[in-house]
Amino acid sequence: MSYPYQINSFDEYQSAWKKSVEDPAGFWGDIAQHFQWKKPWETVLEWNFKDPSIKWFSGAQLNITENCIDRHLADKANQPAIIWEPNDPKEHHRMLTYAQLHLKVNQFAHVLKNNGVKKGDRVCIYMGMIPELAIAVLGCARAGAVHSVVFGGFSAQSIADRLQDAQAEFVITCDGAFRGAKDIPLKNVIDDALISCPFVKRVIVYTHTRSAVSMIKGRDVWWEDEVRKVETAGNPDFPAEVMEAEDPLFILYTSGSTGKPKGVVHSCGGYMVYTNYTFINVFQYKSQEVHFCTADIGWITGHSYILYGPLSAGATTLIFEGIPTYPDAGRFWDIVDKFKVNILYTAPTAIRSLMAFGLGHLQNKDLSSLRVLGTVGEPINEEAWHWYDEHIGKKRCPIVDTWWQTETGGVLISNMAGITPSKPSYATLPMPGVQPILVDEKGDEILENNVTGNLCIKTPWPATIRTTYGDHERCRTNYFATYENLYFTGDGAFRDENGYYRITGRVDDVLNVSGHRIGTAEVENAINMHAGVVESAVVGYPHDVKGQGIYAYVIYNGTHGDEAMVRKDITATVSRIIGPIAKPDKIQLVPGLPKTRSGKIMRRILRKIAEGEIENLGDTSTLLDPLVVEEIKKGRI
Ligand code: PRX
Repeated sequence: MSYPYQINSFDEYQSAWKKSVEDPAGFWGDIAQHFQWKKPWETVLEWNFKDPSIKWFSGAQLNITENCIDRHLADKANQPAIIWEPNDPKEHHRMLTYAQLHLKVNQFAHVLKNNGVKKGDRVCIYMGMIPELAIAVLGCARAGAVHSVVFGGFSAQSIADRLQDAQAEFVITCDGAFRGAKDIPLKNVIDDALISCPFVKRVIVYTHTRSAVSMIKGRDVWWEDEVRKVETAGNPDFPAEVMEAEDPLFILYTSGSTGKPKGVVHSCGGYMVYTNYTFINVFQYKSQEVHFCTADIGWITGHSYILYGPLSAGATTLIFEGIPTYPDAGRFWDIVDKFKVNILYTAPTAIRSLMAFGLGHLQNKDLSSLRVLGTVGEPINEEAWHWYDEHIGKKRCPIVDTWWQTETGGVLISNMAGITPSKPSYATLPMPGVQPILVDEKGDEILENNVTGNLCIKTPWPATIRTTYGDHERCRTNYFATYENLYFTGDGAFRDENGYYRITGRVDDVLNVSGHRIGTAEVENAINMHAGVVESAVVGYPHDVKGQGIYAYVIYNGTHGDEAMVRKDITATVSRIIGPIAKPDKIQLVPGLPKTRSGKIMRRILRKIAEGEIENLGDTSTLLDPLVVEEIKKGRI
């Protein structure tokens, strides 16, 4: 069975795109008819990018969980909504049908309400990749609370920053999470975070690893006890909270070029329509198929294409707790084989890391169920693309290279599986409703093809970022002020003779490490917190597996230990302040940094040295002290 708005041919794609541009309100209004609204909209779209003010489906009311769960009960009650594969392959997997998911989300919405959560309250979720994470997210949405999921690789300090920024009074966590051979003590991390967040009223703790945790009286409660109370009350349905289309659905923090992460806010109505539409069309989802997105729900990919997109389409979505290399590098292929996965959506960094283990891990794995492959998060190099195509897709599965961002909510540029001709390393063409343009430094549109420019989007799509939490001006200056009347993505792109886009990477000071966005300023701030550090500068460099690695130049005047020890101390500091995901790959201690006379660090030079291009550093005559460059070159790691 296909969906009424599923695109079936390239011609259909082209006419859909044309219609979406000529008449966005008509186009999206037609699609939105197919959702369950409690009250219809008055206007499909009102917008200006100046403030910015973007409103989709104004006047409409809905609850996204009714669209993700309730409306499937009539014909899919016994179909698996979620398949969960644990970290340890010897443990049992779990399946939750739509009926079971309905029960659990309703129960948990009651738990939230019983614990004081009201519509609009912010709830921070810090859990491992278990079904209860999905239940917590959906429970919040059902109760009208705004979830803010924080990835399990962030530190206590990062959680505290996010709790404070969102003024979140509620936390949902588990005792611990398994990731490969590691057991991560999530509740302990939360306890550390809460030292500086006395405003947190309630912590709900799910038992997963059964590791020792301190439960503070009056603040901390066990998930299981709270659910039992709802069961004792007879498991009443939870009437889904009535949400305005423009009410916030969630906050997700992401790095920018400044030191402080931004709380990207998405709304209920537009985000639902757009993630559903792109899920169905990019992957060409067919009813009953098993969709396996390997991202973590702590990132936007997990929000949109493990949870909201697939569930709103009545799909079966697979959640995997572990990592691709545990217990060995054949784990993804075991999962594909075991659950007859049809769609595999992963990151280039995972493909590159598995490539390095050779083809042995593919032996005796039946991958014939696969129909579509996808990549996301960073540019995919041609070698990885061909390996994926040949060894995983056996040259019969289209690969969709999906380009998008936390701020865009869903895929903006991508081929559609089997419909748009694919081209290795090209995200190809925009989704219907999306008008990309390239601009030069001055902001003038570049009209010709075979050019590189800064990638902007001309008009809003339904899942456009609405604001940055608590600071709308920051949203404006970050995304809508660089170029007048355009959304600026922060990415550069090349457009070929057919109008296909290839994303070339960030043009701001944001790194993409293993598909994770990390601001250089954030890492610098963390390094500078170390007592012996005077100043630091962080740049990216090409890394075989991670895409980009983190290279830190540090001026150190401490007296504690030799260089190797100092590097370890600095690494530990970054882990403590941001989390293990931001640890520098290389730390070079330097006597000074190349600065202009006005005191600005010349990152261009540092980038070139990190990349190993030490001969041709360009003009260094404007430097305050050109000799420092020679010293840095000598000490390069
Ligand atoms: O630089 C682009 C890169 O990832 C950035 C967005 O990161 P984040 O908000 O964490 O979301 C990642 C998952 C959607 C973009 O600005 N990026 C994402 N997808 C691609 C990509 N670069 C090249 N090709 C892609 N397919």
